[in-house]
Amino acid sequence: MTEQLENPLADGLSLRKTPDPCVLVVFGASGDLAHKKIMPALYALAVRRLLPERFAIVGVARTGDADDDSYRKDMQAAVQQHARDPFNQEIWDELAANLHWVTTDFADEGGEDRLNALVDKLDSERDLGGNRMYYLAVPPPAFPAIVDALGRRQDDRGWTRLVVEKPFGHDLASAKELTAKLHEYFREDEVFRIDHYLGKETVQNMLALRFANGIFEPIWNRQFVDHIQITVAESIGIEGRAGYYENAGAIRDIFQNHLLQLLALTAMEPPIDFTSGNVHNEKVKVLQALHTPGPKSVVRGQYGRGFVEGEEVVAYREEEGVAPESMTETFVAAKLYVDNWRWADTPFYVRMGKRLARRETTIAIQFKRAPHPPFEETAAEGLRPNVLLIHVQPDEGVSLAIGAKVPGQGMMLQTVHMDFLYGGTFRTGMPEAYERLILDTMLGDSTLFTRADEVEEQWMLVDAIVAGWERDRPAFPNYAAGSWGPTGSDELLHRDGRSWRRH
Ligand code: BG6
Repeated sequence: MTEQLENPLADGLSLRKTPDPCVLVVFGASGDLAHKKIMPALYALAVRRLLPERFAIVGVARTGDADDDSYRKDMQAAVQQHARDPFNQEIWDELAANLHWVTTDFADEGGEDRLNALVDKLDSERDLGGNRMYYLAVPPPAFPAIVDALGRRQDDRGWTRLVVEKPFGHDLASAKELTAKLHEYFREDEVFRIDHYLGKETVQNMLALRFANGIFEPIWNRQFVDHIQITVAESIGIEGRAGYYENAGAIRDIFQNHLLQLLALTAMEPPIDFTSGNVHNEKVKVLQALHTPGPKSVVRGQYGRGFVEGEEVVAYREEEGVAPESMTETFVAAKLYVDNWRWADTPFYVRMGKRLARRETTIAIQFKRAPHPPFEETAAEGLRPNVLLIHVQPDEGVSLAIGAKVPGQGMMLQTVHMDFLYGGTFRTGMPEAYERLILDTMLGDSTLFTRADEVEEQWMLVDAIVAGWERDRPAFPNYAAGSWGPTGSDELLHRDGRSWRRH
């Protein structure tokens, strides 16, 4: 499993066709996401010659005195700091020549005219066929004005695609409002809602693992699987995002989107093919089948002071911008059930949190024990049930825990691991999720994005959980930074005679 594969291409992304000429308009172009993710991803695509032949990028922000020149310099610094490839001046200069800037506020009367004039000019100069990709990397209050302005201006030249970043609302009602606003002007297949976890290689590999191999699918069900554990652990805190996080908490920040998407991909039925509609249909069925957990099946936590990776860190309530009595949760663990034929009575234990012992996203499929091991009891003392562990990040790979005989006289058994590690097998770097997602939008492929009905199903579950929380006030903080969360999280599994996977 560790043999090195010769890959003549730079990486999987290189196999795809080149997208149509277009203008990419980035709203919120002076923000964090644009610096850390969007521009480094565009640079990675430029390095691999995957951007359209004729192309323009227009950065838009409401305030500031930037111009084309300062925007290019700012983005060059962002690429130098955050891109995964070494910086190459020639490639950058070529890309930078496509970068333009507009300061304008769409909430002002005619605020969009300045942008439109520039976009039209670039389109006719470069023959971009009227194709527009609008990237809304802005906070939710800014959405409606931008969507209205863009919608009113739709014409039938070329295609229009709208990339929307989370949060998609704050609850079901606001998510529906947002969808209704988008649908006033845009068809669902023109809206690309980003859940960046779906762009991660290892998350897509879950689909390869399940549906490109004959051996897993027959045992991927309640008959053979004892339970499933999904962990999205982060060692970082809120990184200066108190304004957003105080209102979101772990349940809206991670559970509502990334976590439930990982669960949907793990539990879904094989789609007929990998076209967008068929994949979404299967995922939404899982989300619809999710049973609302009772209060005893959900545990929330908030971190206190502690040590993370050797460094002392403050409590959540001491973070800048956080209320001293804040009741926002930074950790959630839950026991969920997918009420369908395949998974009835099989628990999905999930947990996610900030300031945990280390960064780790894993999906562990724990199989039932062998029905009748014909060995003496003492022989099997060191034996644990089979687990198929998908390492989403870091240390990307897949590992299967199996029982093996310890060499020597007599029969002693021990659990060993068969490992597939991306780094050791493919001699290529891992593309960043945003590279794949930006390219897919340009190609018009929405398979790895979330559809409106999925988002609504996700909110329905979250709303039900949050409603249950209004009745009690846990004693926060209830876990130390650098630990694996509150004791209630362990008890959730101990009650069922199980425990979280050992770290
Ligand atoms: C974002 C959340 O969606 O995902 C952040 O808002 C979180 O709070 C981040 O840190 C985690 O992403 P990744 O790719 O680092 O696991």
